Amino acid sequence: MKIALVKGDGIGPDIVNEAVKVLDATAAKYNFEVTYEEAIAGGCAIDKFGEPLPQKSLDICKASDSVILGAVGGPKWDNVESNLRPEKALLGLRSGMNLFCNLRPAIMYPQLKGACPLKDEIVANGLDIMVVRELTGGIYFGKRGRDDNSAYDTLEYSIPEIERIVKKSFEIAMVRDKKLTSVDKANILNSSQLWRSVVERMAKDYPEVTVNHLYVDNAAMQLVRDPNQFDTIVTTNMFGDILSDEASQITGSIGMLPSASLGKGTLGMYEPIHGSAPDIAGMDLANPIATVLSVAMMLRYSFKMEKEAKAIENAVGKVLDDGFRTGDIFEEGMKKVGTKEMGDLIAAAI
Ligand code: IPM
Ligand code: MG
Repeated sequence: MKIALVKGDGIGPDIVNEAVKVLDATAAKYNFEVTYEEAIAGGCAIDKFGEPLPQKSLDICKASDSVILGAVGGPKWDNVESNLRPEKALLGLRSGMNLFCNLRPAIMYPQLKGACPLKDEIVANGLDIMVVRELTGGIYFGKRGRDDNSAYDTLEYSIPEIERIVKKSFEIAMVRDKKLTSVDKANILNSSQLWRSVVERMAKDYPEVTVNHLYVDNAAMQLVRDPNQFDTIVTTNMFGDILSDEASQITGSIGMLPSASLGKGTLGMYEPIHGSAPDIAGMDLANPIATVLSVAMMLRYSFKMEKEAKAIENAVGKVLDDGFRTGDIFEEGMKKVGTKEMGDLIAAAI
């Protein structure tokens, strides 16, 4: 497999290096071959080429079988003009590769239960939610403008755009607990009313799936009140951005959560959901597990290598069971390790 690496900024290179280490260990164990090509994007590309996503980097990603991304951005580029911000690299990669479906699992690791900010009784049965976020449409990509006195952004969805993400979410709900919650703001927004009608129509094709609809403000509240009422959530780009951050925080394991961005074919982009943490970049402090688990998602979704994906997830579980922790998930009595040692331990467990 030909993998493009977008290491990006901040801790991006630290964590991607460990993900590569673990992928190489998996390839050695299960007899497959991986080659890598680096693509420069984000703040580092602004510094080097004057733009966040050089065409060549996008081309490398498009020509690959899949992309592993670290993180982009940092305070250094906070004051550059808006279409030159490092975040534009992410949006450019998503839309340039047509990755309209973003999967963000929010899982509570039993070993890290103590880090969950909710009361014990609320999460007594653990937590396992899949947020399916539309990723290439909506207000992120609508017509926008600004003059001296005002500014606007447009939220627009077409029926085909809604259909393709809703279809993915039903397929995912079917292999999970067969419960799909569609989140919108249909009491206010036209685009949400259309969204809701498409979900209702498509629900007829999936009679086994229980479907409900929530307004986004209510969904935000329900997530902390009773998160286990959710199995699979499908929603728009902006609502998904917000709710996936909320869902990740209630697991207490933001440094642990991977994500997958998928399109029509097998090409996908896999990245941790956390940011670039520039304050600890290059210090061997970052937790590489979210990126390592993103590699597991890559094997599962882009390459249909379930056994190999599981091997990575199990290796992470074993290292946690053995009491090893990076600083962000450290608790009294555990063994504190750095980024590289964590990568070594997971690779060895494979
Ligand atoms: C995310 C991030 C991005 C987004 C930013 C960095 C553009 O918050 O992946 O959730 O809003 O999509
Ligand atoms: Mg976000």
